[in-house]
Amino acid sequence: MKHIAARMSAIQPFHVMALLARARELEAAGRSIIHMEIGEPDFVTPQPVIDAGMQALSEGRTHYTPAVGLPALRERIAAFYAERYGVTVSASRIVITPGASAALQLVMAVLVNPGDAVLMADPGYPCNRNFVYLLNGEPLGIPVDAATHYQPDVQQVRAAWRDNVAALMVASPSNPTGTLLGAEQLQALHAEVTAHEASLVVDEIYHGLTYDAPAVTALSVSDDIFVINSFSKYFGMTGWRLGWLVAPEDVVPEIDKLAQNLFLAAPTLAQHAALTAFEPQNIAILESRREAFRERRDYLLPALRELGFDIPVTPGGAFYLYADCSRFTDDSFRFSEQLLEEAGVAITPGIDFGVNSPGQHVRFAYTTSMENLEEGVRRLRSYLAR
Ligand SMILES: Cc1ncc(COP(=O)(O)O)c(C=O)c1O
Repeated sequence: MKHIAARMSAIQPFHVMALLARARELEAAGRSIIHMEIGEPDFVTPQPVIDAGMQALSEGRTHYTPAVGLPALRERIAAFYAERYGVTVSASRIVITPGASAALQLVMAVLVNPGDAVLMADPGYPCNRNFVYLLNGEPLGIPVDAATHYQPDVQQVRAAWRDNVAALMVASPSNPTGTLLGAEQLQALHAEVTAHEASLVVDEIYHGLTYDAPAVTALSVSDDIFVINSFSKYFGMTGWRLGWLVAPEDVVPEIDKLAQNLFLAAPTLAQHAALTAFEPQNIAILESRREAFRERRDYLLPALRELGFDIPVTPGGAFYLYADCSRFTDDSFRFSEQLLEEAGVAITPGIDFGVNSPGQHVRFAYTTSMENLEEGVRRLRSYLAR
């Protein structure tokens, strides 16, 4: 056995992958499975973006771009902030990355010394703690629940603070809970973090996928916040591996330096294609998809509540419902396995999102058609009635 770095023992795979593999196996054997575990839109990338990608390819746009991204795309994203949020963001602060994943890694690497801690909501996006482990830092989960809409509030952040905290990471809308942070909450969190001379990192990857009120960008609160976004979710471009980061101006040279070293540049074809993502005809497609997601949420949420899942806060965004399943089990992993095997419904157990009562929670993703959701609910109803 080769020598493996000690930090690897802290890094967990996604537990849902085992369930997904089993689901595929069952499907290969002829079983029908309703997928409510998948964290990406079921829609393919809209045609205008595909056409733009094909055109870029036929024009031979196959070389590296600058490490911080294609200048035209940085400008286009800056214009999008003005159009959509009325916020002025200089293109020089925007760094194009291979997905939000790379943006998160860049930010963490720029902020976290070995031994530094990073505060984050639990439940939260599983990769965040691993980015911190990779830097020999310490992820510190803040247990959140319905009382604060599954988002950390200032009192919780203050109570969790330690001298070694370098940053607070939040996501709005959040994965797995779909809840948002308003302007006042963002302001309060920013003030608290700044008082400790630490940084606020806000993951806005589910922006655009909001169903009650539009999400507030942290960039409207301060220029001194690291904001992460991506073409993956709202823009429906997961496989293109393209995201971006908005950083405080003085940190951009550090990020540029690191991006050059870590991945040279984001995929060139994807960057050219993404220029079209902001065109009105593409946005019109995305908005009709948003309506489809809203319709799904509005169907699935009451249906799950009626079945006995407790979802105390109506999630205003993303495509997830984080449900308390303690009426049925206190081992949500086993429960998810049984649902898959016996009812043909795949969901994500809470264990993937942290250590805050994961056994009592599961995540449903409405990244499948209404017909499939209705069939999923039928299967759940008959399974739970047994
Ligand atoms: C909260 C959150 N952040 C970041 C990511 C990474 O997305 P990508 O690298 O595709 O942009 C995801 C993916 O599911 C996510 O849910």
